[in-house]
Amino acid sequence: DSIKVFAPATVANVTCGFDILGFAVENPGDEIILKTCKKPGVVIREIKGDEGRLSHAVEENTATISILNYLTHVERDIGLEVYLHKKMPFGSGLGSSAASSVAGVFAINQLMGQLLTTEELLKFALEGERVASGTGHADNVAPSLMGGFVLIRSYDPLDVIKINTPENLHAVIIHPNIEVNTKDARNILKKNVPIKSAIRQWGNVGGLIAGLTMNDFGLISRSMEDAIFEPVRSMLIPGFDQVKASALEAGALGCGISGSGPSIFALSTADGTARKIGTVMKDQFAQIGIESEIFVSKI
Ligand code: HSE
Repeated sequence: DSIKVFAPATVANVTCGFDILGFAVENPGDEIILKTCKKPGVVIREIKGDEGRLSHAVEENTATISILNYLTHVERDIGLEVYLHKKMPFGSGLGSSAASSVAGVFAINQLMGQLLTTEELLKFALEGERVASGTGHADNVAPSLMGGFVLIRSYDPLDVIKINTPENLHAVIIHPNIEVNTKDARNILKKNVPIKSAIRQWGNVGGLIAGLTMNDFGLISRSMEDAIFEPVRSMLIPGFDQVKASALEAGALGCGISGSGPSIFALSTADGTARKIGTVMKDQFAQIGIESEIFVSKI
């Protein structure tokens, strides 16, 4: 038997929702092929698109970590060959490790005849993420696994909710050709938040969720603000302020860092506007000598 699975990239945080909000995009993403074989045990046969950077050791690769955790849980001992095709950049803020982890666990569950529900797969996908980035944050794995826009209401116990979004909501992501390591981007954050900032942030989280479910674009736009983490993290992204300003000027509902960066995302109400925003953001990066790539997707 064999199966091929695609798991999408994701935008985590979505400005005000650090570690609790994320959405999936149509592209880029990772692809995995699993083939059963006679010889017991899991082996990685091939990894493409990683420029030789990923480990072929099954206990070190995010895709196979989630597969091994799953197999232990369901108590199945099978022979498995893994072919991983990385179709997205590393250290980009697009949930690269999450996509591999999700692709792995989703594929093995399909191959096993869906022994677990999609929601039950989340904790196995989180294990891969924990190894890759040092924390088990779910705001990339949950939307990659479930699709759409997702809220992690609680981590303990895990409580993940899919949020309805307006029909015509589009995202544009600009990925500058630099790398930011998620562990580093977490380590620079302050450990305490002043109560005034906290009040502003949870007001925005509530506003963003309400705006999405009520199709209120004005409310979505007003709520897309992060006064806590963005000022610190944006220092890792050359030209961030100019790129963000250009996106808002070009008609974006809101704009912020995608996950831990350096990618920057913006939301808009139409595909055409999203493309236009992408072009002006790309021009801004070009002005300071940074090459970038644009991804546009419906949410
Ligand atoms: N919420 C995580 C962070 C996402 O901002 O560190 C990382 O992709």
